[in-house]
Amino acid sequence: PGVTPLDARGRPLRDLRISVTDRCNFRCGYCMPRDVFDANYQFLPHADMLTFEEIARLASHFVDLGVEKIRLTGGEPLMRRNLDALVGMLAELRTPAGKPLDLTLTTNGILLARRARALRAAGLTRVSVSLDALDPVLFRRMSDADFSPDDVLRGIDAAAEAGLAPLKVNMVVRRGLNDHQILPMARRFRHSGHVLRFIEYMDVGNTNGWNLAEVVPGAEVLARIGAEHPLSPLSAHYAGEVAERWAYDDGAGEIGVITSVTHAFCGDCNRARLSPEGRLYTCLFASQGHDLRGPLRQGADPDQLRGLLASLWGGRTDAYSELRGRAEAPAGERRIEMSYIGG
Ligand code: GTP
Ligand code: 5AD
Ligand code: SF4
Ligand code: SF4
Repeated sequence: PGVTPLDARGRPLRDLRISVTDRCNFRCGYCMPRDVFDANYQFLPHADMLTFEEIARLASHFVDLGVEKIRLTGGEPLMRRNLDALVGMLAELRTPAGKPLDLTLTTNGILLARRARALRAAGLTRVSVSLDALDPVLFRRMSDADFSPDDVLRGIDAAAEAGLAPLKVNMVVRRGLNDHQILPMARRFRHSGHVLRFIEYMDVGNTNGWNLAEVVPGAEVLARIGAEHPLSPLSAHYAGEVAERWAYDDGAGEIGVITSVTHAFCGDCNRARLSPEGRLYTCLFASQGHDLRGPLRQGADPDQLRGLLASLWGGRTDAYSELRGRAEAPAGERRIEMSYIGG
């Protein structure tokens, strides 16, 4: 323990994103379109999914190898029963230097009002909430589910009251669909203390029918907001931060843009992703994962598991977003779905 492996491009392993379920109570068109994820869709059987004990054991080995931040994702992670029990187990982990982890969650916010206190009490340190529109009709159309933006806003308030403020609010922008919500969203979260981040629509998975014309570049988002409320750049919190940070000049707070299409950030990507049934993916756009559940259930000891993780990370060359559209880009392979690996 304690030796941080570097991948084939010299990148350390710092961030582990654990998807705890492939189920969700939304059917966002860009992630789980209802015609694919319908009543006949085969979600993972429960027995195939890692138990909380298995997740915590694997996580402890990742922490030995340098992971400092764990993010729980889904699907919708709050659809997994008793998630606070898992949070409690992960909150006990310490880095080799003895520090607790940054332990966070990405959620659509619907179940958050009910769960925020217990999650906080169990040791969650932060939460990011997705919200694509304030307009109720558009919100319903984009999430294709019977909820309203007020449900999400209540979740955000409850999380803040439970001590999880400031939150991050993530908006995926699609031209012609919700780009007219950029300014209303910016106005809504000015002075809130929360950090609103605009995500370029990405070509993840195989089902969303992605099209470059629907991508609103981060630079355009900044220009539109900056015309109403001038902005200045902030420096990154840490190497490999996904979002570019900007501050309102009038002190109303901070926003971010996540430009994985127009300005890729693979160069210092330190993220590994663990699927609900224990496969390791070294890129959001990977088509192949590596089974960890098999060795775990066959009784591999900690040294063997750490060795396996270190060698998988050591062989990593991923840089999909940088290669997108270029001749050397991996083409035609079936990619993992966002709903399975959680963004
Ligand atoms: P913090 O800065 O710690 O709050 O987290 P984060 O920005 O890493 O996490 P978050 O899950 O909120 O990321 C926001 C979105 O950025 C994700 O939902 C993805 O859409 C996108 N994203 C995050 N990591 C990657 C990545 O490695 N590659 C690409 N292409 N997109 C990513
Ligand atoms: N492009 C960009 N972001 C996406 N998300 C899901 N699918 C996509 C996509 N195709 C976002 C969600 C959420 C996070 C988990 O990932 O809206 O904020
Ligand atoms: Fe669910 Fe999030 Fe996918 Fe929407 S983007 S369907 S909320 S997992
Ligand atoms: Fe990391 Fe892959 Fe995203 Fe690049 S495309 S930032 S390598 S996850």
